[in-house]
Amino acid sequence: MEPSIYEYPDVFRRAHLESPGEIPAEVVFLQQVWKRHRKNPTRRVLDIACGDSPHGRLLAGDGFEVVGIDRSPTMIAAGRRKARALANLRFYRRPIEKFTLPERAFDAAIFMSETFPVIVENTDLLSHLKSVGRALRRGGLYCVDIDRQDPMPRVTRRTMWRERTASAAGVALGIREFHPPLAWHSPLHSIYELECTINFPTGPVTTRDLIPVRYTTPSTLELAALASGMFKMDAAYCDLSFVKPLDRCRYRWMGVLRRV
Ligand SMILES: C[S@@+](CC[C@H](N)C(=O)[O-])C[C@H]1O[C@@H](n2cnc3c(N)ncnc32)[C@H](O)[C@@H]1O
Repeated sequence: MEPSIYEYPDVFRRAHLESPGEIPAEVVFLQQVWKRHRKNPTRRVLDIACGDSPHGRLLAGDGFEVVGIDRSPTMIAAGRRKARALANLRFYRRPIEKFTLPERAFDAAIFMSETFPVIVENTDLLSHLKSVGRALRRGGLYCVDIDRQDPMPRVTRRTMWRERTASAAGVALGIREFHPPLAWHSPLHSIYELECTINFPTGPVTTRDLIPVRYTTPSTLELAALASGMFKMDAAYCDLSFVKPLDRCRYRWMGVLRRV
């Protein structure tokens, strides 16, 4: 079986077309959201599906107490390595669908890099929200970052979407993205198949990830929040702006859920 791109923490960011400065801008916006939506200061933050926790490292550098959870031992090991100098950033290996932590309540949780829609099943979505809700104090905020999902033409067979090249840490990457077909009754907006050939000097390695993307809009997130019994939705902001209307959203939106 081909390995996952998450076995190569320094490569996946380039393969995902992340632009420089994106994460610092998100961290600034998160802090503005917390100030706007909470009376009390935010000190303890839970980073869900944290990977090597780039957001957590910046927040910990600003004095926040941060805990990250992820299922990938490789990503967590990379996060621990990069956070060696930060005593206030810790990691646990956990699945996001259902988890508990031996930690005091958090003031806020974040789920960044548009990963929330990988939770496909209704039962997983509800147990995820219950797990996050139990980790937060009442009034705590859960900020979820999600891509704008435009309608996709249905494909009847696996179809190539894009092909490009990039480089990461001096290594050339060949990236191909595909869309496999979906059943009409699927809750998915799409399945994102990412194939990445990493041209190491010792020989190429090809990774493959099939990432399900559940159809998620502000309205469906609000419904899931209410159904969990743990949250209500305070706001949905787009493109890191408090004033831009959702109609003009270009890239992404952020749901702000409040622990009830
Ligand atoms: C696109 S990366 C984002 C990581 C990090 N939030 C960032 O912004 O760099 C997605 C992460 O989600 C994790 N992940 C995906 N599904 C998961 C699951 N079911 N349980 C726990 N972690 C999961 C992967 O291991 C990966 O590290």
